[in-house]
Amino acid sequence: MHRRTFLAGLAGLAVAGPAAAQMKHDMSSMSGHGNTMPLTGTNPVLQEGQPLTALPRLTNQSAVPGLFKAELAAEPGFIRFAEGLDTPVLLYNSTNPVIEAREGDKVEIRFKNGIPGEPTTIHWHGMPVPADQDGNPGDPVAPGGERIYAFDLPEGSAASYWFHPHPHGLTAEQVYRGLAGVFIVKPKDDPIPPEYGDTVLMLTDLRIAADGTMPESTMADLMNGRIGDHVLTNGQKNPAMAAALGEKRRFRLYNATNARFLRLRFENASMTVIGTDGGLIEAPVAVDELLLTPAERIELIVSFDKPGAAKLTTLDYERGWMGPGKPDEAGMVLLTANVSEEAAAAMPPLPAKLRAIEPLGSPVVTRRFVLTESMGGMDNDSTPMQGMDHSGMSMPSGSMGMKFLINGASFEMNRIDEVSKAGQVELWEIVNDADMDHPFHVHGTQFQILEHEKDGKVTAPSYRAWKDTVNIVGGETVRILLRQDLPGPRMYHCHILEHEQLGMMGIVDVQA
Ligand code: C2O
Ligand code: CU
Ligand code: CU
Repeated sequence: MHRRTFLAGLAGLAVAGPAAAQMKHDMSSMSGHGNTMPLTGTNPVLQEGQPLTALPRLTNQSAVPGLFKAELAAEPGFIRFAEGLDTPVLLYNSTNPVIEAREGDKVEIRFKNGIPGEPTTIHWHGMPVPADQDGNPGDPVAPGGERIYAFDLPEGSAASYWFHPHPHGLTAEQVYRGLAGVFIVKPKDDPIPPEYGDTVLMLTDLRIAADGTMPESTMADLMNGRIGDHVLTNGQKNPAMAAALGEKRRFRLYNATNARFLRLRFENASMTVIGTDGGLIEAPVAVDELLLTPAERIELIVSFDKPGAAKLTTLDYERGWMGPGKPDEAGMVLLTANVSEEAAAAMPPLPAKLRAIEPLGSPVVTRRFVLTESMGGMDNDSTPMQGMDHSGMSMPSGSMGMKFLINGASFEMNRIDEVSKAGQVELWEIVNDADMDHPFHVHGTQFQILEHEKDGKVTAPSYRAWKDTVNIVGGETVRILLRQDLPGPRMYHCHILEHEQLGMMGIVDVQA
């Protein structure tokens, strides 16, 4: 178990947008900075090394035990990412809030769409919520409109979920502009010692121009997914925290970027995986590095065993970048822990068993999903792509026939692609017949990865886990077992949000 393992495509999380911990953005601070800095270059410098701030918790307004009740509003706002630059963003309650509830709770969120001129929804990524409460593209909340999202958190649902908009044709943009939040469901009995704390690290990707605005997406962004200039942790660039020598800390890492593949290691500290998208795994697994693709989450225990600076850094990753402009992925520092020379008070050990995960059992149905890309000009299907205008997408006109397809089809709001049955175990075979990696996500449930196959070589994951997003490497086939317990239409799609928007999405209608 203490074998060091490289967890390829392990956890999955897909939120995006600037997390805004530091967004104590009030008018007084705006007017207080009269001396506007001269703007040079296209990539403003963000201050590093500020103390790590926690994202604000959404307050439970209910006095009734077992009920989590609150209000969320999606609204425009500003974040001061760099001195003298106020970036227009979209936020939930002026921030990227964290909702924390418990297994067994009822949740009731009154939601208001305050985005001028745009429909939106809240999708509860990874959560077992009824289809009509899950913020599907088919259930938009009009600008100025309101609705209530209500659902129960069943026993065994404790995990690191998140939420983000999912309106038809506008998801990618609303997410990179900042709309995302964290939803933690706590278990009744937590096997992880409370002394380790519980720290959310929401990783987002920011691109800002010299004037502080977020530039429109380019062709390269549509093709590869939008990559920013800065990867932020809770809205901060490389924030700092203090740790005592020998201290163990629990972290929940969220890849809330639109399209950034995060291959991560912790220099001068050791990482142990304890959980994935759908909660704790069965036993801790020590790792040297991990790959967190868009929308994936991972829970880690980090042991600060060496004094000095311990850094969460990125490594290079080859994800099948198309065309020029592949960003330099390696060497970004996402968090610096300053570890003291003096030893921490002794900490309780991490239990050897965390929980049981029953195998899903034998599938009664097999479905196959083939992911392909077609790049317009090189396509023998000569029909130009009509700019996706039927969808009201705010993509730059002329995605030039670029298409991202599942089983040869581009997403259609009114087309059911698969018909399934609640409660039945299914084998989904996802074949990546394209050159790029595509992180594949299914709504409404958590699945188990059975195996990966590439170039005739089949590998099973080294441990069982609940997942809602799995990276499918170019040329690879991944087989998963899943069961939908709740009826209704559910989306499945690539969680590179630009790919989802350009058609790599389908609907499975789960019948009661
Ligand atoms: Cu994270 Cu369809 O969603
Ligand atoms: Cu989802
Ligand atoms: Cu994709």
